[in-house]
Amino acid sequence: MSIYPSTALPFSQACENNKQPILEVLQKELKDSLHVLEVGSGTGQHSVYFAPRLAHLTWQTSDILAHHATINAWHTAYPAPNLYKPLAFDLAVDPLPISPASNQPYDAVFTANTLHIISWPLVTKLFELVGDVLPANGKLIVYGPFNEDGHYTSAGNQQFDISLRQRDPKSGIRHLEDIIALAKTHHLRLSNKYAMPANNQLLVFQKL
Ligand SMILES: C[S@@+](CC[C@H](N)C(=O)[O-])C[C@H]1O[C@@H](n2cnc3c(N)ncnc32)[C@H](O)[C@@H]1O
Repeated sequence: MSIYPSTALPFSQACENNKQPILEVLQKELKDSLHVLEVGSGTGQHSVYFAPRLAHLTWQTSDILAHHATINAWHTAYPAPNLYKPLAFDLAVDPLPISPASNQPYDAVFTANTLHIISWPLVTKLFELVGDVLPANGKLIVYGPFNEDGHYTSAGNQQFDISLRQRDPKSGIRHLEDIIALAKTHHLRLSNKYAMPANNQLLVFQKL
């Protein structure tokens, strides 16, 4: 059941469904992290749920400018001291931001449901940027659907992939093996892989 009563805020049902299972993994994986950058914050719903429940760290939202009004509206409705207003960050053109809280690179980056939306060149850009700046043992955490062993993991994911590619041929569900190989070229090692509800996965990469 939603903790957000009837609201006029732009709303993602998927975020509502997956936020608690994701949080449970983040509480474990981010227990030693201090400053987290979220790439592609979308509506901002994840951020207002995660930040107060990960009070030991700062949660910095970011997205392309078109999403900022929505993210700000969620932050105004559900503020938290460690929740930071969105940075304008477009993978296509921007360097990875520095944490305004520490004036240093982030020690963790989280992104949900973005790798199947952005083009493969932007997926590679994300891993390159993050691999370049994460400190040793820093984490890149990626949530979403992935294919495994060259196959869809469910009929639902297959349908989803077809619809994504019809809308934008550059988008589509990525192959887990391609992501792991890409990460490796940027000194990011897969340290954990969690099966998540609705045939999604949460991948944790650690900087070597
Ligand atoms: C499907 S939404 C996911 C939003 C949210 N993370 C979630 O799980 O609901 C994909 C997100 O990727 C962002 N995105 C698309 N292209 C981007 C780019 N070039 N740079 C940064 N973010 C981008 C979109 O603006 C959007 O917020």
